[in-house]
This record gives sequence, C-alpha cells and structure tokens, in this order.
Amino acid sequence: MLRVITDERASVIQQVRKRGEGVEIGVHEGAFSERLLEVAQPKKLTLIDPWAYDGTRSGALYGGKGMSQEMMDARHGRVLKRFAPQIARGRIEVLRMESQAALARFADGSLDFAYIDGDHSYAAVKADLEGWLVKLRPGGLLIADDYRNASWWGDGVIRACHGLLAEGGAEIEMKLGSQIAFRKLAEPDLASQ
Ligand SMILES: C[S@@+](CC[C@H](N)C(=O)[O-])C[C@H]1O[C@@H](n2cnc3c(N)ncnc32)[C@H](O)[C@@H]1O
Repeated sequence: MLRVITDERASVIQQVRKRGEGVEIGVHEGAFSERLLEVAQPKKLTLIDPWAYDGTRSGALYGGKGMSQEMMDARHGRVLKRFAPQIARGRIEVLRMESQAALARFADGSLDFAYIDGDHSYAAVKADLEGWLVKLRPGGLLIADDYRNASWWGDGVIRACHGLLAEGGAEIEMKLGSQIAFRKLAEPDLASQ
C-alpha cells in the first residue's frame, strides 16, 4: 500500500537510508521515535535522553519549570513501556544519559542518521552536530529539529547549524519548515591529491 506522508518531519526522515542504524537525541515521550520507526524503518534505533529534572532549564518539555524528577522518571518509564516489544527484539535501545556522554558508545562512521532534538541551547546543539557528524558514515544524514528563531533558545539552533556548514564536512540535503538535514561528505582522499 502506498502511504502518503504529509508532515515536514516525516518528509525529511524519509530521506534516511532504510534498514540502517540511527539515533534520536531528545526523546521526551517517544512520539517522534514512533514516526522514525515507521518512516525510516531502521534496523536499530537508539533513543538518548537523560530524562533529568533541572530547575534552571526552561520549559516543561526540557525537564525545567513545572516539572520534578519524579515526573521525568515517569516519562522514562512510559517510553520503556511504549517500546517494550522493540526493546525485547533489540531493535530499540534506550540510553538514559546526556547525548555527549552517549557518543562514546558509537564507533566513528557507523551510523546512517542522527536526529538532533535534545538541549536546544547554542552550545549544546553545536556540540551535538559536531559530535554526531563524526559518528555518521559518509552519506549519512544529520537532521536538526527547530531550525527557527523561537522560544528560550532564540537563534541558537540556526547559528549552530550555520557554524557546522562553515566548518565543512557536510552539505545541506534538505530544508523543510523547521527541519534541516545535512549530508555527511566523504573524507577527502589526501593520498590521491
Ligand atoms: C523537544 S524534546 C524531544 C521531543 C522528541 N524528539 C519528539 O519529537 O517527540 C527535548 C528532549 O531533550 C531532552 N534533553 C535535554 N537535554 C538533553 C541532552 N543533553 N541530551 C539528550 N537529550 C536531552 C529532554 O529531556 C527532552 O525530553
């Protein structure tokens, strides 16, 4: 059956290589993880989120105002329950930790995609884009959510994305609404130059 996918996020993740391996940084309740499973059809998807309460953060979505550690623990529990069948089969792995700590779990050049939707501050998005790009195979997709001037992060996501482009190593594959996808370039073959 032909499925018509209409929303922007789904259109972007449709570009990901099917039956590959990827990560979602920032999981919340796992709503988008479910879309990733359905649309990108990964062989293995790792969900990374500390589900940590931090009173200094902004917004309930990020574990800030209006939240408590008990509420974050309950969120984590709901995600484990939601994906219990996929976790049992090894198709999903849940890492309850900050994205920067999770980097060490992955070999360089091993992933087909990374979807970045964790801490939206400029410094954190910059670190995520740079760190996860290294983990992608050449041709893999690095996708950032909330590429727009909004909320408490202001232009942080936009600036971090532009910084990545300036550094080289990736080119824009697609920009749709507040989604932006970068394709990792192949390493230059220095021996043949
Ligand atoms: C916008 S929500 C993610 C929404 C989810 N991707 C979706 O679309 O359904 C942001 C999430 O990032 C998580 N987060 C905050 N800091 C993080 C970090 N350093 N590493 C990974 N995740 C982080 C928060 O706990 C929160 O669940």
